Amino acid sequence: MPINLMEDVIEMLKEAKKKDANFDRILGSMCTVPHEMAKKAYNMFIETNLGDYELFKGTKELEDKAIEWIAKLLHAPPGYAGLLTSGGTESNITALWIFKKLSEKREVILPKQAHFSFEKAASLLDLKLKVVECGHFMRARDVKKYISSSTACVVAIAGNTNYGYIDEIEEIAEICSDENIFMHVDAAFGGFVAPFVSKKIIDFRAKISSVSVDAHKMGMACIPCGFLLLRNKNWIEEIKVRSKCTHTRFQATLLGTRPGAAAAAAYAVMHHLGYEGYKRIAEKCMENTGYLADLLKRNGIEYVEPELNLIAIKVKKAAEVAARLKEAGWYVGFDEESEIIRIVVMPHVSNEMINKFVEDLRKVMK
Ligand SMILES: Cc1ncc(COP(=O)(O)O)c(C=O)c1O
Repeated sequence: MPINLMEDVIEMLKEAKKKDANFDRILGSMCTVPHEMAKKAYNMFIETNLGDYELFKGTKELEDKAIEWIAKLLHAPPGYAGLLTSGGTESNITALWIFKKLSEKREVILPKQAHFSFEKAASLLDLKLKVVECGHFMRARDVKKYISSSTACVVAIAGNTNYGYIDEIEEIAEICSDENIFMHVDAAFGGFVAPFVSKKIIDFRAKISSVSVDAHKMGMACIPCGFLLLRNKNWIEEIKVRSKCTHTRFQATLLGTRPGAAAAAAYAVMHHLGYEGYKRIAEKCMENTGYLADLLKRNGIEYVEPELNLIAIKVKKAAEVAARLKEAGWYVGFDEESEIIRIVVMPHVSNEMINKFVEDLRKVMK
């Protein structure tokens, strides 16, 4: 392989980037363009490693403060613990890892709509998933009959991947508390929306054990960045290991080397926007979701009434419709089993994009 000048490599990178989808055409992703503040902070901390946090005390402080910010948003109790993770998948795996060890049991109850990261967790941790048959969200009365003496944990979702719906978290938490079993809330998507636009409680005000939230989704931070909060800081001990060769003596995260830049970006955007700023963004996304729903209705296109900023549009042959939309330049999520294409109305999705999209959708549905 030849050695290239930096300018030449930049040209190669630009060529590669041209092949990437542009966000003004992305309608099916739960990620978005990071906030300018996040990008700046990310670049400032690009070389830092939170796996060896004794070397990066300032970055560690930013991580701790970002965790505190999230803990306040989610009403964490005084003895809580927080981890900054690479996103929803790592948070979900870590929660189940801890609850398997604490309970010494292997069964996990979760809704049909749960994200596929739980399949990864089950495969890694040798867990048995008991899937609750449900509609667009999981009801408490349906959970009860799945509970047994082997149940380690119940998982509920705040903003599920296909419909953006919220499970009956408060009621399910009551049942888990009565039965003395752990309950994890996956708020990877809804964690930065529901607290601002929904009356439903998805956090520690309910009797939940843990909750995960992704800052690289509606938090407008940089990839990779999620958070896992646990009700009791002692639970962390279950996954703590001595890190013999590094300046840092202990780690309690699935990953070893971790990007401090992601923590800095999350801290920066949180402290720049504040809770008020996020509220405004979530409200705007909900307003645009309403706009899309109205437009679909006026065009006689069927959809599932949205709860958060996500609309599942009912179509026949979802994979084919998604492929035709791709030809027209649109990237949408789809689920051929449920016969839906899904539009996530993220902060980069404008009403102008929505207008053009619905026009093209009408054409491909003909
Ligand atoms: C509800 C939910 N949980 C977890 C995840 C996984 O998050 P990540 O891709 O950041 O690992 C997603 C991703 O879309 C999700 O929608």
